[in-house]
Amino acid sequence: MLPHSLSSVVLVLLCAVSSAAAATTTTTSATAVSSVFAIPSLLTPYVATTPKLEVSPESGSFSVKSVSNYGEMAYYASTWTIYRDGGGSCTLNNRTLWLFNDANAYTVSGDVFAGAATNSMSIATSFDHPGSLKDLTISSAVGYFPATPWWGTEESQYATSPSHRYALWTYSNCVQLSSTSAAHFFLVNKFSSVTSSKQYGNTMVLYSMNESTGKITVTRPMQYAFQNTSYPYGSFANVVVNGYAYLFGLDRLYSTNLDVHLAQVYTGYISNLAKYRYWNAETKAYETTLPVPTARRKAAAVIQSSIAFSTGSLFFSEYHNAFVLIYFSSYEDSTFRLIRSPSPLGPWNTTSVTLYKTTIGVGYNYGGLAHPQYFQSIAGIAGKSVMLHYSYQSASGTYPKAMTLTFN
Ligand SMILES: *[C@@H]1O[C@H](CO)[C@@H](O)[C@H](O)[C@H]1NC(C)=O
Ligand SMILES: *[C@@H]1O[C@H](CO)[C@@H](O)[C@H](O)[C@H]1NC(C)=O
Ligand SMILES: *[C@@H]1O[C@H](CO)[C@@H](O)[C@H](O)[C@H]1NC(C)=O
Ligand SMILES: *[C@@H]1O[C@H](CO)[C@@H](O)[C@H](O)[C@H]1NC(C)=O
Repeated sequence: MLPHSLSSVVLVLLCAVSSAAAATTTTTSATAVSSVFAIPSLLTPYVATTPKLEVSPESGSFSVKSVSNYGEMAYYASTWTIYRDGGGSCTLNNRTLWLFNDANAYTVSGDVFAGAATNSMSIATSFDHPGSLKDLTISSAVGYFPATPWWGTEESQYATSPSHRYALWTYSNCVQLSSTSAAHFFLVNKFSSVTSSKQYGNTMVLYSMNESTGKITVTRPMQYAFQNTSYPYGSFANVVVNGYAYLFGLDRLYSTNLDVHLAQVYTGYISNLAKYRYWNAETKAYETTLPVPTARRKAAAVIQSSIAFSTGSLFFSEYHNAFVLIYFSSYEDSTFRLIRSPSPLGPWNTTSVTLYKTTIGVGYNYGGLAHPQYFQSIAGIAGKSVMLHYSYQSASGTYPKAMTLTFN
């Protein structure tokens, strides 16, 4: 039972990259990079919750009634076999979009290598079949390209390199800004060899869907949102309450992922870093100066855990009338756990509820997250049933698996 870091568990390495996609237009300026591509009209609408900042009392039950396993999240038409990991979901324009990391695609017939990218975007075809995806950035029609644009040649010059590359990886769900726009935080890792990488910080990716054109614009307003001298706010988890985004980041360097730090910003100002405020749990007040830690700041952390976190997602559960964080710890036990709080600001009850131990393949599972937008209509109330996904290491490669968990 050894703690692990995410960078060491990504076993699938990029081998080659196909030529640039025809259907994407990439623009670069001094201030932002963006790309545009079409999103099909596969609709999975749901009604978003609108929590208050502080809720009480708790309701429902945290014990597990049942679990359904849906197996691999895969291309619905069996056109491609795609190995990939991590990732998170996002709802835009009544569509459920999925982002995954380090995609390697092969044709199903013949196992011909088709291409690779540091991340990819798919769309859910149905809430009833959580394993069924249609890939948008991997397809014979449009070619193969990363979902997030590179920050100019500084990053793109390494796009075909298996070793000295930039890796833009997400392990969280997007931050919902409106029904047609969202922000998503991706960790920026720089590899100096095939096996050696450093986390330079995280970057912010903005999604904007245009209903009339059916196209999404994916923009990076800056190369880094938070460099590794601070905490990667937004890369661990997020929740939007009353128009404000609460962005959670792990203290990897000084607490080895025990402490979670929190930033807050009005959703309308998400790309304006000067508008961010930083929660200090010790003084119970926001600070306007970005913390630049030189040591652990445990008392200032909004969650002070005794078990290190790996990945997770946070949402308001109507069923429990509580904010819940469903996560994998950094132990290699492949187990979903839950902690909860009456408010994103705490106090977090860090005595975890063990939800479900997933079955492993050739190694432990990782990248576990919850997706409450699935199954809300079945259960009638948000949070009674949640879709969970995680990265499964098979002998041939790593891929995401989907399951549903229903509380008693
Ligand atoms: C989502 O679908 C509902 C029901 O069809 C519709 O009223 C709403 O305008 C749609 N919203 C977006 C953002 O597409
Ligand atoms: C932080 O990022 C810089 C590049 O900006 C890199 O040189 C350094 O090694 C990184 N530090 C850690 C602890 O990963
Ligand atoms: C959507 O695209 C149409 C056609 O290009 C354009 O006229 C309109 O301004 C766009 N809407 C938004 C909200 O950007
Ligand atoms: C904290 O969570 C644990 C595990 O569910 C529970 O037994 C305990 O009652 C909770 N504590 C409080 C103060 O709610």
